[in-house]
Amino acid sequence: MVDDDRSHILAADLHDADVVVESSLRPRSLDEYIGQREVKANLSILLTAAKARGEAADHVLLYGPPGLGKTTLATIIARELGVNVRYTSGPAVERPGDLAAVLTSLEERDVLFIDEIHRLNRAVEEILYPAMEDYALDVMIGKGPSARSLRLSLKPFTVIGATTRAGRISSPLRDRFGATYRLDFYEEVELTEIVERSARILGVEIDGAAAIAIAKRGRGTPRIVNRLLKRVRDHAEVHGDGRVDEPAAIEAMRLLEIDDAGLDSTDRKLLAAIIQKFASGPVGVQALAAVLSEEIETIEDVYEPYLLRLGFLDRTPQGRIATEAARNHLAALGYEIPPPRRGEPEVLPLWDEPGPSSGGV
Ligand SMILES: Nc1ncnc2c1ncn2[C@@H]1O[C@H](COP(=O)(O)OP(=O)(O)O)[C@@H](O)[C@H]1O
Ligand SMILES: [Mg+2]
Repeated sequence: MVDDDRSHILAADLHDADVVVESSLRPRSLDEYIGQREVKANLSILLTAAKARGEAADHVLLYGPPGLGKTTLATIIARELGVNVRYTSGPAVERPGDLAAVLTSLEERDVLFIDEIHRLNRAVEEILYPAMEDYALDVMIGKGPSARSLRLSLKPFTVIGATTRAGRISSPLRDRFGATYRLDFYEEVELTEIVERSARILGVEIDGAAAIAIAKRGRGTPRIVNRLLKRVRDHAEVHGDGRVDEPAAIEAMRLLEIDDAGLDSTDRKLLAAIIQKFASGPVGVQALAAVLSEEIETIEDVYEPYLLRLGFLDRTPQGRIATEAARNHLAALGYEIPPPRRGEPEVLPLWDEPGPSSGGV
């Protein structure tokens, strides 16, 4: 359905149909990996040191919003180390035995990538502690009073954990990572570079202004700019000769209901709900989730991070607040904007001299 398509284009989580194209666009080395300069610099030291010692690299925890390159980075780390990588995820490992089976199958210095590591269950997590700390696996033999625990040793290996929320990881697990890197939203120039690189790989002819237009609306997220690029290309193939220039790109994104700040209809619904139904807040995330019929986790992990980054949203102990910038953004799009509950300095007393910023030039 068209609507499903539209809502998922900005939701940065991964859908099956994208997997194939995504892997073709995935950078294969640290050099090809655009942006995140600090993370790359630190990682490069960690990897060089591990290689020089001929040891397994320290366990690495990567965190940040979806689509910023965590899985890609894990793959690159393994490649740079010249080892195999096994992929699994928190929800996929149901029983301690499942994890034990994976751990015993690893070769020396291999990488075990655990996506959504904050969703590992407790029993599985407890297998991971000695495995990460001592490369040891504690197995219980027998049942009842005669049960005893036997310690098996594992080959040295590296866990790379990925999560959208570092705060959800238990502290014993967090403590076992030698390095933790936070991926941040990408700058416009970096996203432009990503669009241009992806266009080359996909064989799309695109001009510089169009690449920038896509980067501007890509919510700081490589996965999203790649997806926008594909949709813009489709549009250019259907309505033109396949070449993408700025007007074509903008028109295609307008049809996807993506506005100039890169917000989609769900983002706008979220902001509009806070502004119109809750007098700009503060409002609890539960109430928002109910009004929008979305999961709390989706709101917190997928929608809020970029709205916070844009300064459209504030998180306070009392709840979420829509900012003046958000009200201005929606007002410009024709939304009705009731006055915020809390008196804010934007309302100047009429008899004041206009301040330097409001003196129209
Ligand atoms: N630094 C980067 N440079 C170029 N492309 C990137 C970069 N990071 C991510 N990508 C692209 O974005 C897509 C999503 O990245 P991924 O690693 O799956 O994100 P995450 O695991 O954080 O959700 C990848 O397929 C890749 O094409
Ligand atoms: Mg991923």
